[in-house]
Amino acid sequence: MAAVLVTGIGELTTNDAELGKLRNAALVLDGGRVAWVGAAADAPDADESVDVDGRAVLPGWVDSHTHLVFAGDRTAEFGARMSGQPYAAGGIAVTVDATRAASDAKLAAGLRKHVDEAVSQGTTYIETKTGYGLTVADELRSAVLAGQYADEVTFLGAHLVPPGAKADEYVDLVCGPMLDAVAPHVSWADVFCETGAFDEDQSRTVLTAAGKKGLGLRVHGNQLGPGPGVRLAVEVGAASVDHCTYLTPADVAALADSDTVATLLPACDLSTRQPLPEVRALLDAGVTVALASNCNPGSSYTSSMAFCVTTAVLQMRMTVEEAVRAATLGGAQALRRDDVGVLRPGSRADVHVLDAPSTTHLAYRPGVPLTWAVWRAGVRQR
Ligand code: NIG
Repeated sequence: MAAVLVTGIGELTTNDAELGKLRNAALVLDGGRVAWVGAAADAPDADESVDVDGRAVLPGWVDSHTHLVFAGDRTAEFGARMSGQPYAAGGIAVTVDATRAASDAKLAAGLRKHVDEAVSQGTTYIETKTGYGLTVADELRSAVLAGQYADEVTFLGAHLVPPGAKADEYVDLVCGPMLDAVAPHVSWADVFCETGAFDEDQSRTVLTAAGKKGLGLRVHGNQLGPGPGVRLAVEVGAASVDHCTYLTPADVAALADSDTVATLLPACDLSTRQPLPEVRALLDAGVTVALASNCNPGSSYTSSMAFCVTTAVLQMRMTVEEAVRAATLGGAQALRRDDVGVLRPGSRADVHVLDAPSTTHLAYRPGVPLTWAVWRAGVRQR
């Protein structure tokens, strides 16, 4: 792989505490890693040079929450929601039926399409989950396929009790044969701890079993109403609790006293007509916040991290710096990675160039596609 000098950077967001934000900067990418960061005037030679002519450069988006192993379509459900129907967990079963019926090739094509779509918009590190299979064979198939396209894979057998199954028997299946089959193919386990999905005890049982298998833990919590998800995530030492739409002061305090990241999914809240999370309370308390797309066919069918950032700034009142950090470094922290979401010597060469002079344009020009160039692990994608 040739070493590449990216120079003429008008504004470089590094997310590195010492490097900070640089003007008139340059980067050298070599062997899939960042080899050098500094002033353009001091840049060393490289095999190739790309002058970005004053554009803004930032780490690629880290999308730490997606559900991309699926088939089928839920446009009608979305349309009904826009006419006033509430979102409910049960809609997941529609996608489960379509996913089980799909061939491996069809699921793989969908995965590739959605990952490529995300990368073309600046996402360079992506997590995705199982959870639309809900049998041992279908969850295993989902995990294996996901591992071919995503950077990190999460086991979400505890997404919904399949229609017709008994909840306690299904939890036993998830914690036993399903976990045994899937664990070698994933690094994380997750549970949808919510009314209509899994209650606190069932969720704890799943997370405890997954922890004993050596998997990192994540929780879907407090999405559709206040509930035990955040508290449970903190109790089990989860890396992240995702959604956090309904938080009590006690939830915020528990997160502030923990290493658990609060991952906010604003596109989902808009698509399900839920309120947007009160992010200022989290930030003021010192909680680490991530932003992710939650790309899935039911509650949030977008792969656009830029849309999430724009929404976070314009509607949740995050500053541009806070939102960009949450969608890059925050996502990395939610996945417990220290080599992505940041641009410093040694980090992965995940580079996003905007066709704009500053990241402020992400909110200043809402809806305008601003991705100009992307390198993922040092390989130019566009
Ligand atoms: O994160 N909340 C649970 N799971 C997904 C939605 C899945 C679906 O509706 O298909 C989410 O929003």
